[in-house]
Amino acid sequence: MKAIYGGSFDPVTLGHLDIIERAAALFDEVVVAILGNPNKNCLFTVEERKAHLETVTKHLDNVSVDSFSGLLADYAAKIGATVAIRGLRNAVDFAAEYQMYIINRHLNEGIETVFLAADEEHIALSSTNVKEVAIFGGNIDNMVPSQIKPFIIEKYKK
Ligand code: PNS
Repeated sequence: MKAIYGGSFDPVTLGHLDIIERAAALFDEVVVAILGNPNKNCLFTVEERKAHLETVTKHLDNVSVDSFSGLLADYAAKIGATVAIRGLRNAVDFAAEYQMYIINRHLNEGIETVFLAADEEHIALSSTNVKEVAIFGGNIDNMVPSQIKPFIIEKYKK
């Protein structure tokens, strides 16, 4: 079964990586799909985020990284994915994710959403929080994969 894990990944966090690793153990193939819609104001370009994700998932043979624009449901249909993976940290996530599940299901009946509960170490972790800490020079060691940390620090030097 082919699963898709869509997101902005700006930047990829240890929470994302945990979900990717657990999804890779559950499904034959996992496509990590970066949303490339230009209306999002991102720290990293799609190409940079793709390179980051490829680096941190190198050890996972059944994981590939791609980007998409438009609807996730359409992209899933295009690549033949039947499962959408989403991580859940808390009830606020659930409220938004449940709506997205309903809309995606309406757009593409061939896609099922599978929610993976975030590890307790990651419940306060988000790409937004990483950027907030990094911009003021705080320690992001427990937030992002070690290979990605220098790229984040470099961005805020400029
Ligand atoms: O990084 P995020 O916020 O978890 O990513 C959310 C994402 C990219 C998966 C979601 O916003 C998405 O699928 N966007 C593409 C447009 C779409 O299909 N929206 C769903 C119907 S509301």
